[in-house]
Amino acid sequence: MADIRNNFVGIKSPNPFWLASAPPTDKAYNVERAFKAGWGGVVWKTLGEEGPPVVNVNGPRYGAIWGADRRLLGLNNIELITDRPLQVNLQEMKQVKMNWPDRALIASIMVPCTEDAWKAILPLVEETGADGIELNFGCPHGMSERGMGAAVGQVPEYIEMVVRWCKQYSRMPVITKLTPNIADIRKPARAAKAGGTDAVSLINTINSIVSVDLDNFAPNPTVGGKGTHGGYCGPAVKPIALNMVAEIARDPETYGLPISGIGGITTWRDAAEFMVLGSGNVQVCTAAMTYGFKIVEEMITGLSDWMDEKGHATLDDICGRAVPNVTDWQYLNLNYIAKAQIDQDLCIKCGRCHIACEDTSHQAITRTVNGIRHFEVMEDECVGCNLCVNVCPVENCITLIGLAPGQIDARTHKVVEPNYANWTTHPNNPMAAQAAE
Ligand SMILES: Cc1cc2nc3c(=O)[nH]c(=O)nc-3n(C[C@H](O)[C@H](O)[C@H](O)COP(=O)(O)O)c2cc1C
Repeated sequence: MADIRNNFVGIKSPNPFWLASAPPTDKAYNVERAFKAGWGGVVWKTLGEEGPPVVNVNGPRYGAIWGADRRLLGLNNIELITDRPLQVNLQEMKQVKMNWPDRALIASIMVPCTEDAWKAILPLVEETGADGIELNFGCPHGMSERGMGAAVGQVPEYIEMVVRWCKQYSRMPVITKLTPNIADIRKPARAAKAGGTDAVSLINTINSIVSVDLDNFAPNPTVGGKGTHGGYCGPAVKPIALNMVAEIARDPETYGLPISGIGGITTWRDAAEFMVLGSGNVQVCTAAMTYGFKIVEEMITGLSDWMDEKGHATLDDICGRAVPNVTDWQYLNLNYIAKAQIDQDLCIKCGRCHIACEDTSHQAITRTVNGIRHFEVMEDECVGCNLCVNVCPVENCITLIGLAPGQIDARTHKVVEPNYANWTTHPNNPMAAQAAE
């Protein structure tokens, strides 16, 4: 059985699945239920400084984007940090940590950008027995207007300064949570490292307006006739998050810096993708808010089964394994040639591949052959762009097949050169096929 125990910057948890700082981790009631369901750790909903708690809107806080089947693809929120008193949160965190010593409990913190404010809160958090702190430099709305959250996360010098204070005034491991609302994610990551952070986590939510109420001419969610930008998360942001994780993982200046991956993770497969791109563990928010805490069961069994099947014994065997294969465009192998192929048994003859190729690509798919409706790839026109594969409504009906070295490209009439980047494991390589048997 694969061993999926996680050791992230010295913080141990029975599995790499943590709940991200958000409503699911806002109180002991939720966190206790999450731990019972099997979550390896939680990042408690972000704490603010001592004083009157923040006030949230008492109206719609969420907007969404759905797929055609009403499955939630993207979630937008205009919530602030916790609106419960600091002392109540601290007491509950202490109790929960005592009840669940084997689970990771991280305190997320966001206080004003002054040394005194950070110096004041750190010992209070440490006293709860929390395993570490996460610095919330990401919240894109409400708190950033007050000079916190993304307002700090967008200025690398501030990040470095605050991380330094945290390392100076606390013994707890520091995880710096990054905002994606920035042009180059490597800069805040480098700054966090320069300040001495133990790890970075990303992504927080993305600035967004999900839709506009056309009757009232206001963005959704509309609160008393007005709306504001919110933070976008859920499956729709996963590609953006994966890229940002990979950018940090392969940056020579932050190479080896532990990463906690966040953004749209819903299944074990999403989690595994984040891990092979360099995340030491993962955090989940929207999927838990959409489907409940029990989704962690599928994540645990799915990851373990896949690791067993592939012979990966521990998480160290998979973390970062895909990073060497992320490269810049200039290093892609231009001698690699692939052609689309349509499985006639699966084809439902909808014609979407033809129209996409005909109107917008390379006119490489037939519509009729001998007067009969028939969709077939013309290899002498196909450049292997993959558009038909992506627009086809039937899974696996159209596939892209790589030409083997020595074959002739019908479009350019050139012989395919034998220097595929991954030829030793390429499915068209007869030796690889034999080895796989
Ligand atoms: C309603 C809501 C509230 C959130 N509150 C916080 C917060 O207090 N602190 C924080 O660091 N991130 C907060 N987040 C961001 C999440 O922790 C996470 O970074 C983001 O949602 C991306 O992950 P996901 O796609 O799995 O949801 C919040 C997200 C949502 C949806």
